[in-house]
Amino acid sequence: LPLRTLDHRRIRLYQGFWIPEDYLRGVLTIQEHFTSRPTDLFVTSYPKSGTTWLKALIFATMTRKKYPLDQNPLLAYNPHQCIAYIDKHFSHGRSRIVEAIPSPRVLSTHIPYSILPESITGSDCRIIYIWRDPKDVIVSLWHFAQEVYEGTPDLPSFSESFELFCEGNSYFGPIWNHIIEYWQESKRKPEEVLFLKYEDMLEDPIKYARILANFIGCPYSEAEEKQGAIEQVVDLCSFKKLKDLEVNKCGSGTILDGHVSYAAFFRKGMVGDWRNHMTSEMAQRLDGIVAEKFKEAGLEMINMK
Ligand code: A3P
Repeated sequence: LPLRTLDHRRIRLYQGFWIPEDYLRGVLTIQEHFTSRPTDLFVTSYPKSGTTWLKALIFATMTRKKYPLDQNPLLAYNPHQCIAYIDKHFSHGRSRIVEAIPSPRVLSTHIPYSILPESITGSDCRIIYIWRDPKDVIVSLWHFAQEVYEGTPDLPSFSESFELFCEGNSYFGPIWNHIIEYWQESKRKPEEVLFLKYEDMLEDPIKYARILANFIGCPYSEAEEKQGAIEQVVDLCSFKKLKDLEVNKCGSGTILDGHVSYAAFFRKGMVGDWRNHMTSEMAQRLDGIVAEKFKEAGLEMINMK
């Protein structure tokens, strides 16, 4: 039976994960019919873990030689317009859009690793996964739902949403299993799955922009390093730069089942905003749940500031 989650959206349990009901058809179609190409690169994440930033960094890295810095499409388009979100396209019956993208494709999905089609997991496609402190994820998710579903009666309060999240009941949740599955694959196939953490990236974006460039096969040459190309990419994708762009202040798109203003993807962009929303008991409870699951899987909870 469907459950209600952080907003009016309903979720259904499918193969151990709660999938938004309106995306279930898309997820099933992807599972059955998605055809990967060996050159495909997937941006994967649990929602609100830094996907927009990762998309921007990958897009800017790959296109840095194609466009002069002041003409990069990221200055005029939201990162979600630059990299296709397959869950949405397949759910809306628009798989052709994805099929029409020329190789090498960069595509994104929130689908848990174990639900991805064999065409992806059994191939040489590369996957980049970003995860984030679940305490900040639930805060970000709650604000996003408030914004997107503004005006919907009876939206759950933060503490109600927090309860659901701790029970694993949120889009593509439980979050701990989502993270663990991609982590396990990154250990098994490090050349194919890159496992990144939002907080680490914020602390040293240059280091991670370099790691990303190497992983996707567009490393910075010595000359580029000297010219500061890597700093330029990081700067172009910085929270402040993207947030202040006209497209991201005033634009909107159909990210979920309705219209979403792009501004909703740029809220605070910081580590630790959970402190403004949770009591220390709540924080300890969620940390405890996640730590136990991570420990069972052999993944230590690192860098939880
Ligand atoms: P907050 O709501 O905590 O501010 P996603 O892109 O997966 O939907 O995640 C959204 C979160 O990433 C939001 O977190 C958003 O502010 C943050 N974010 C968006 N762009 C960013 C950037 N360029 N740098 C750092 N964080 C960014």
